Amino acid sequence: MARLSDELIEEIREHNDIVELISEYVPLKKQGKNYAGLCPFHEEKKPSFSVSPQRQIFHCFGCGMGGNIFKFLMEYQKMSFLDAVRFLADRAHITLPARSTDGDSSQYEALYKANHLAAAHYYQQLQESADAEKARRYLDRRGFTAPIVERFRLGYAPPGWDGLINRARRRGIDPETLYRAGLVLKRDFAEGYYDRFRDRLIFPITNVSGKFIGFGGRVLEETDEVKYINSPETPIYQKGRVLYGLHQASQAIRQAGRAVIVEGYTDLLSLVQAGVDNVVASLGTALTHPQARLLSRYAKEAILLYDADSAGVAAAERGADMLLGAGLSVRVLSLPAGMDPDQAIREKGADYIVEALSRAETLLDFKLRYLLERQDNTSISSQAEVIEALGRTVAMVADPIKRGLYVREIAERLKIKEELVILAIDRASPRRKRKQEAPVTVDEMVTEGAELLERKILALLLQNPDTIPNWREKILTEDFSHPDHRRIAERLLTSDRSVPKTSANLLNTLSDMNLDSLISELCFLEVEGEPVRMLTDCARKLANDRMQSELRRLNEELRQAEQAKDQARIDRLTRKKKDLAQKRFNSTSADSAR
Ligand code: CTP
Ligand code: MN
Repeated sequence: MARLSDELIEEIREHNDIVELISEYVPLKKQGKNYAGLCPFHEEKKPSFSVSPQRQIFHCFGCGMGGNIFKFLMEYQKMSFLDAVRFLADRAHITLPARSTDGDSSQYEALYKANHLAAAHYYQQLQESADAEKARRYLDRRGFTAPIVERFRLGYAPPGWDGLINRARRRGIDPETLYRAGLVLKRDFAEGYYDRFRDRLIFPITNVSGKFIGFGGRVLEETDEVKYINSPETPIYQKGRVLYGLHQASQAIRQAGRAVIVEGYTDLLSLVQAGVDNVVASLGTALTHPQARLLSRYAKEAILLYDADSAGVAAAERGADMLLGAGLSVRVLSLPAGMDPDQAIREKGADYIVEALSRAETLLDFKLRYLLERQDNTSISSQAEVIEALGRTVAMVADPIKRGLYVREIAERLKIKEELVILAIDRASPRRKRKQEAPVTVDEMVTEGAELLERKILALLLQNPDTIPNWREKILTEDFSHPDHRRIAERLLTSDRSVPKTSANLLNTLSDMNLDSLISELCFLEVEGEPVRMLTDCARKLANDRMQSELRRLNEELRQAEQAKDQARIDRLTRKKKDLAQKRFNSTSADSAR
């Protein structure tokens, strides 16, 4: 990303009012200090989307989406951060340094340009070149029609070694750039490069905004050559972050609230041709968390439609957990044995697939069915495995209400007690795992209380940024027990750069860290009372709580040392306890002196 200075980015942000901007997309009504409207990021009937003119931040209490003006454009218009900055600079008539001077971004631009040229080249070859006759016949044979070829910009890479290289050179793009874009390879025993894709049907891959970022190439005859070769990862193409076809499908997915996920290029094309527009492909890899999150911006539900072989089932199982983790509900459509979606459509027709999709089974049904099929239900350990596998799945569900419903259903289906299911979920819960990894110094109840306290402190600081300098030495960031809280506290309290630490500003630098939603929520958290007094109280309580738990831990250790009659350890712990008491005395007297 280009290095625009923080000051400039801040200036651009300050010159655009968030209420004004969002009002252009979402009807807002004044409500107290804030503005409220129907959230554009999820479907709702009652407005839970808030915009604060004071803090220049938005937050949805329904879906948790939140952030500053840049984030809004990034999410709503699918802009990159840089594009959002440019857009808002334009809007405020602020001139940015010329593009050629922002080094990194021109490097990205060069990669996009190279991919764009390649896509145009392959497309044109498929349409016009004599060599492409067999590719055109191949598409015909498989029943892919002209509108599909056009919609997905399918192409053909002719057999030569330097067709693309020469075409690019005439357009002023050098082979080195093609190389960085993954379009050519370096010769082994000589200087120079050669085209990566040769004599292959080309499937261009785009990002959500429709820019070409990579390609897949399929052989036209079944030979010994690998069926597909693909672009390697480049700065603009990361496999695990892209869904094939999402650009073309996004509208349909939004409308349906639902997306169908297939594995392959051809599966996707066949589905679109069968009239199923809301479809994306994961391209043969297991679905990743970023892919699931990407999809969750458009859909509430996903239907996994993977090949009916064991690899497909395994991929569906893992993919399902990713999707659940991203908050989507999941259904699975299992095809007759040995079929992939493309075949199923060709053999059984478009109506078949449309109808089958409409009655795809719920994830739970799917898991229960295949787990039970696979397992030997008379054996206890095998039954335990089933329960544990289901527990792992339900543990991915964030919403406690949904989790509860799953628990009840599993218990009923397996005819076991709900407690057993809950046990399996507990065992698999990431939260619990995290706690087991970190040394536990405070008990559960204290942590719950601490989280609220920490939230209050951060909310007060974020909402009164001018008071922050006064708290730099008085609040210790290591006293925060929640890791996200600690990261925010560190940014707020420890750096002393000149840019003011306002909440909206903070989000510029923290946005990579996925804390936007938490920060915007904290900005809207109402803490009653006079801010400085509240902060004083909360800060004292935070320090005190930490000390108390430290004391509890020392006492526990001391008890163990006494049991073991380990005199050296007893002495050391007793000294530590004294130090702690001293420290505590100091801090209380400092407080009362204030
Ligand atoms: N894939 C790949 N490299 C391979 C095989 C597969 O990248 N050597 C990816 C492709 O994205 C492919 C997907 O995995 O689309 C699914 O693979 P497969 O089912 O083998 O191919 P299909 O898409 O079904 O292709 P076709 O219908 O032409 O056989
Ligand atoms: Mn396939």
